[in-house]
Amino acid sequence: MRIAVYPGSFDPLTYGHLDIIQRSSRVFDKVIVAVVKNQSKKPLFSVDERIEFIKRCISNLPNVEVDHFEGLLVNFVTNKGAQVIIKGLRAMSDFEYEFQMALLNRKLQSEVETMFLMTDHKYSYLSSSMVKEIASLGGSIQDLVPEEILQDILDKYSEKQEG
Ligand code: PNS
Repeated sequence: MRIAVYPGSFDPLTYGHLDIIQRSSRVFDKVIVAVVKNQSKKPLFSVDERIEFIKRCISNLPNVEVDHFEGLLVNFVTNKGAQVIIKGLRAMSDFEYEFQMALLNRKLQSEVETMFLMTDHKYSYLSSSMVKEIASLGGSIQDLVPEEILQDILDKYSEKQEG
């Protein structure tokens, strides 16, 4: 069985991520979306919230599941019996960082391959950090994040303003 892991912060999930998940689910027998825990950058949403958001948006994809990991990604991949790490590439600016990570991951665990999917051009400008910035400044994020989670993201900012 060909199993791929699609790792990331997903803080929050965007249409760009969802596109990569949908497309990789057509290529692999199983795709595990892996939410990273305990990162140095302080996330807006907890791991549980991020997992729940993703679950809501993949309910129509039977071969996709969501999990979380701490520590080295390659250890998680190996423990799950997966062979491949999936990454989305938006622009040349992503390349250098992703190239470095792919080579380091291969150095750490040579049997694990990293495979890149080019983002759909519709989402080439999209990132979770921009979604958060726009939402925090009161702009519309309607076309940027799945409608299943839109209201929860907006609610987080109204909570913040009230609190
Ligand atoms: O969505 P992001 O923030 O770009 O995801 C980055 C992520 C989670 C894929 C990366 O930080 C990662 O793999 N972290 C796990 C720690 C690890 O294995 N580091 C060595 C990579 S060379």
